[in-house]
Amino acid sequence: MKSMRTIIEKIDKNKINTYIIREAGRILREGGLVAFPTETVYGLGADALNEHAAQKIYAAKGRPSDNPLIIHITNMDDLAKITSFIPEAAKVIADKYWPGPLTMIFDKSGIVPYGTTGGLDTVAVRMPSHEIAREVIDAGGGYIAAPSANTSGRPSPTTALHVEEDMTGKIDMIIDGGSVDIGVESTILDMTVVPPMILRPGAITREMLTELIGEVSVDKTLITPDSKKTPKAPGMKYRHYAPKAELTIVEGEIKEVIAKINSLAAEKLEEGLKVGIIGTEETVGCYPAGDVKSIGTREDEATIAGSLYGILREFDNDGVDYIYSEAFATGGIGSAIMNRLLKAAGHHVIHI
Ligand code: TXA
Ligand code: MG
Repeated sequence: MKSMRTIIEKIDKNKINTYIIREAGRILREGGLVAFPTETVYGLGADALNEHAAQKIYAAKGRPSDNPLIIHITNMDDLAKITSFIPEAAKVIADKYWPGPLTMIFDKSGIVPYGTTGGLDTVAVRMPSHEIAREVIDAGGGYIAAPSANTSGRPSPTTALHVEEDMTGKIDMIIDGGSVDIGVESTILDMTVVPPMILRPGAITREMLTELIGEVSVDKTLITPDSKKTPKAPGMKYRHYAPKAELTIVEGEIKEVIAKINSLAAEKLEEGLKVGIIGTEETVGCYPAGDVKSIGTREDEATIAGSLYGILREFDNDGVDYIYSEAFATGGIGSAIMNRLLKAAGHHVIHI
């Protein structure tokens, strides 16, 4: 692809520069690409109703064109325009969790091009809460297709620097709004089936949704990865979130996990290989050798979600050959953390 000039602009989310927002809006309306922060991860935006603009996203990311995009909106009136049917349960969920880290899938209306939905008759929609995202969406015409702003196959970006690593020279503008809040992508909930089905776990958990609307199922391919079935969210089948090094998760009683990781690391180090280790605030002091990083504290799992992708990118930059990680709890945001970590590891887990 021919390299282009990428404008990089910093915005303080507490004092939003309207000039920059207007410039971003102009680029989007003219069919260009703008990366911007959301509360989950950075998104790579294009006008969702302009098939040609949406196609540019696939080129910049190197993303397979059968992988549909999420359309970002800022209000419920706009939801009605891009969908052909909104189930009652979706209205109840939107009332409680929009704006926020939740994507819902609906039957699409005629104005949504197939180039945005990867040829599907359904459309994924999210209403983000991040102030900069909301202003960019409105300035850009109200319907912004935005996948995570990473090169396909790399970990999703949680800072503007991550976006710059992957997208400089390939898109028109990057808005630097600082680190994101959550760090893993939105929950995806398919509202076209009964009961609604979670296709990707995120910060809005199954328990939160069940409490609100009753039964919610989970795509089985998320639980049993080696099943022969294809995930219902096309993107979940790709080797996503992956670091360059081979990642192994070690699961079990924490003292034994530490001992196992130390012995695995020692073996590789002896062979002259570079080893990365993912521990927590509670355990980093227990690993005497290797490139040891703390991913956060088990006392607050949100800290782990917040650093996961950044740490995987750091290990890429450090050029490690092997990464060993502790496993984490699966309650709350933990199911999203373990889903992404397992994908990054290609489901390579040692149980002890
Ligand atoms: O948090 C997020 O959702 C971020 C921010 C930028 O909003 N976006 C994001 O987009 O994660 P992306 O493209 O990286 O992931 C979207 C996922 C893919 O796995 C895709 O296959 C799935 O959503 N998806 C999109 N439309 C779908 C549809 N109509 N049916 C099933 N899955 C769909
Ligand atoms: Mg993505």
